[in-house]
Amino acid sequence: MNVDPLRWLDERAADRTRAGLRRQLRARVPGEALIDLASNDYLGLSRHPAVAAGAVEAVRKWGTGSTGSRLVTGTTADHEQLETELAEFVGAEAGLVFSSGYAANLGVVTALAGREALVVSDAGSHASLVDACRLSRARVVVTPHRDVDAVDRALAQRTEERALVLTDSVFSADGDLAPLDALHRVTRANGAVLIVDEAHGIGVRGDGGRGLVQEVGLAGEPDLVITATLSKALATQGGAVLASERVRAHLIDAARTFIFDTGLAPAAVGAALAALRLLRAEPEMAGRVLARAGEIAAVAGVAQPESAVVSVVLGEPQVAYDAAQACRARGLSVGCFRPPSVPEGTSRLRLTARADLTDSEMEQITAVLGDVLAATRVRHAPESNGREVRA
Ligand SMILES: Cc1ncc(COP(=O)(O)O)c(C=O)c1O
Repeated sequence: MNVDPLRWLDERAADRTRAGLRRQLRARVPGEALIDLASNDYLGLSRHPAVAAGAVEAVRKWGTGSTGSRLVTGTTADHEQLETELAEFVGAEAGLVFSSGYAANLGVVTALAGREALVVSDAGSHASLVDACRLSRARVVVTPHRDVDAVDRALAQRTEERALVLTDSVFSADGDLAPLDALHRVTRANGAVLIVDEAHGIGVRGDGGRGLVQEVGLAGEPDLVITATLSKALATQGGAVLASERVRAHLIDAARTFIFDTGLAPAAVGAALAALRLLRAEPEMAGRVLARAGEIAAVAGVAQPESAVVSVVLGEPQVAYDAAQACRARGLSVGCFRPPSVPEGTSRLRLTARADLTDSEMEQITAVLGDVLAATRVRHAPESNGREVRA
C-alpha cells in the first residue's frame, strides 16, 4: 500500500485554516520597535542589566549547561541558594527548582498522587496541571471554574484516602483569582492537599509580589504546596515547587521530571536570583504592574483586572486575530488567544501589563488600542453580522 501516512496532517491544517485557528511562529528581530503587551515579562526585568549580569556571572562560574540531572552533577550551590531564597520569599519552608514550571507541575502532582489518590482540578487550570492530572494515574474530577462547593462535594464523596486539589492562583487566560481561602478551608476539612500554581501571582500579587498565597495569609501552611515559574515576573526560565521540607525530600526521591531531567542551566539560575533580589529591593514593582493593568483595562473598556492580565473577549478567532494584527501594524504587540487555549466563542486579545511601561508608551497604547477596539466592535457588532462581541 503506497499511501502517505501523514496526509491527515494536511487535512487538519486545512480545517484549522478554515476556522481561523492556524498558529504561526513569529521571530522577534533585534531593535524591533514594538510595545510589548504580549509577553509575561511582568516586571520588565528580562533586559535588566543586573539580571543579565547574574546570568553571565553564573555561566562564567559554572559553565553553559548544568551538565547532568540534579541528582548527579546538575546541582550547583546557586541552585540551592535560589531554592532557599524563593522559599523564603513566598513564606514556604523549602524549595526545589525544576527545569520549567511545566516540569514542576508534572513532577509534584505525579509524585503526590498515584492510582490510590483522587485529584480535583479547576476547569480553568493551566495545561500543565491538566497534563499532570492525565499522567498522575489518579481518578480525576474537574470542577467548574472557581466552584468551591463542587470541590467540597468531590472530596467528601471520595473513596480514596488521599486527595489533591489543583488550581492556578491567577488564571492565565482571564487573569481572575482563585478563591484560595475558601478552597484551603474545604481542602483541609476533607484531609486533602492544596496545590496552587503561582505562575501569574508571583511578582504581581501579595506584599511586594510574594504571591496570592501570601496575600490571603496561607504562606507556610503544611498542607499547601506552591508551584512557580521563573519565566514570567522573574524574567528567565525554570520552575519551582515551594512547600515543606517533607514534600521537598519526597520530590527528590520520586518526582520523575526532577530525577530524569537535566538540571536548570546555571545562566537561568543566576538570572532568577538577580531578578528575585531586585524585586525584594524594589517591592513597589508589583503594585506598578497592577496599576498599569488597570489603565489598560480602562482603555479597552473591560472590567478592572485583578492581575497583570487584561482579557478582551472578541468572540470568533478571526476577529481576535485581525484585531491583534491591526494592533501590531501600529506598533503594539498583543497576545491573541484562540481555542483550544480558551473556550469556543471566546477568542480574545490578551494584554499583559508591565511594571516598566512608560507614560509615553501608555499614550500610544491608549491611541492604538482605543482605535482598534472601536473599529472591531463596530464591524462585528451583533446587529451587523449576528456574531456576539463581548468586551
Ligand atoms: C499558570 C501556568 N503554569 C505553568 C506554566 C508553565 O511554566 P513554564 O513556562 O515555566 O514551563 C505556565 C506558562 O508558561 C502558566 O501560565
